[in-house]
Amino acid sequence: MKLSGGEGGGRRTRAAAHELARYESLFAARTRGMKSSAMREMMALTEQPDVISLAGGLPDTSTFEPEMYARLMAQVAHESTARALQYGPTEGMAATIGCIVEVMAAEGTHVDPAEVIVTTGGQQVIDLVCKTLIDPGDVIVAEAPTYPGAVPTFSAYQAHVEQIPIDDAGMPIDELEVTLDRLQDEGRRPKFIYTIPNFQNPGGVTMAMARRQRLIEVARERELLILEDNPYGLLRYEGAPLPTLHSLDAAALGRPGASDLVIYLGTFSKILSPGLRLGWAVAPRPVLEKLNLGKQGADLCSSSVTQTFVAACFEQRGSDGEPWWREHVERLRTLYRGRRDTMLAALEENFGESASWTQPHGGLFVWVTLDERIDTTDLLALARKTEGVAFVPGRAAYVDGRRGSSSMRLNFAGMSDQDIREGVRRIGRAAREQIGLLGSLTGSSRAASSAQRAVDEDSAPAAGAPLADVVALPRRDEQPTARRRRDR
Ligand SMILES: Cc1ncc(COP(=O)(O)O)c(C=O)c1O
Repeated sequence: MKLSGGEGGGRRTRAAAHELARYESLFAARTRGMKSSAMREMMALTEQPDVISLAGGLPDTSTFEPEMYARLMAQVAHESTARALQYGPTEGMAATIGCIVEVMAAEGTHVDPAEVIVTTGGQQVIDLVCKTLIDPGDVIVAEAPTYPGAVPTFSAYQAHVEQIPIDDAGMPIDELEVTLDRLQDEGRRPKFIYTIPNFQNPGGVTMAMARRQRLIEVARERELLILEDNPYGLLRYEGAPLPTLHSLDAAALGRPGASDLVIYLGTFSKILSPGLRLGWAVAPRPVLEKLNLGKQGADLCSSSVTQTFVAACFEQRGSDGEPWWREHVERLRTLYRGRRDTMLAALEENFGESASWTQPHGGLFVWVTLDERIDTTDLLALARKTEGVAFVPGRAAYVDGRRGSSSMRLNFAGMSDQDIREGVRRIGRAAREQIGLLGSLTGSSRAASSAQRAVDEDSAPAAGAPLADVVALPRRDEQPTARRRRDR
């Protein structure tokens, strides 16, 4: 079975069952819960020239001016050779931390540089927070759907994840409280609440101001930590920016810059480039110290080369004397706003009333919910094979892989307008074909729905199904009714 894999994007062959058997007794128990991130594996598809992939979480890296990249890399090479090629402090280089403080200030969040740790992407923050806080069986409360890249991390640490369904205004805090009450009755205290308040990945929605305030109050009343994952806050295409949970908590405490409940995750991936692999966490000191210890064990420090490069980027001035990075983000906002509009128009044109989708005010993603008869895990297999188009199936955003079956995540940032239009058109065609196939199985497309579901519920995952080499997701569908969220 072929699998495109790894960050190198090379094609790898998955180990055969008899090869695995030799090592089975050596693997730690936690590896049984490990699963591949649908998102990461989908990224390999982006390397195939014949596939239009709306699947990845990709920003458009071609927006980075090549001359700037070449000039700054040369500058790093000439002026900082020894420093850039050396190990650095685990918490990160002071110059890079200065850039982080600047980015956060641009979002109205003031932080103490001593409470920042530079990480190898925001992804490492999720991993380190779990490494620091989660014992097997510990509870994490997350949104439903949640970031598909967090799902394998939570699984690897054997967390019990409670997912709260989101709506157009993000996580409903009253529903969160119901879950927290239930957990309390069961004697379980969540280790943290994981939320992506801005332009949620994958939902595309933003947590309303009143909910942010209430979330902070609830966390304070119950002494709970929040992991605020905010890669997209600066990529806003309309509306006024909302304060981060970190800044709201600091304001509530009356200690600007210091929150004792919020662990904040940021990243340079979406405002500069994911290839830098640089992110950060801001955390209360005791937590920060543990994150630092965890990071020492993981990779000692993040790349000095890219940290030095980021510091050089932040020294640049743009045409009107403004920091260059801010102009770069402004250009991204203009570009992505246009692409978002293209995608929304293409959805309208190709799906009309037959689907619902979110209206993101920023970020990279639209969450689309199709006719409930369609299982997007199956649709992906069909769409890849017959149409050469890919997306992230909704189940990847659920830890149990059982919900979200009629939904999918589409990225509008990493593709040209033309590819967006063509990609959505192809998905529409595949969806119609899928409905037709269901109808022809039973003679009636309505009846097909329940009949197909009954078949699904009785059968194990189809052996050799085309999707099996992409994502191993269960096909049983216990909560088929996706929320309708057509907030136009
Ligand atoms: C919500 C969210 N968190 C974290 C990450 C990780 O980003 P990176 O490791 O590139 O900083 C991503 C990437 O897509 C994301 O969407």
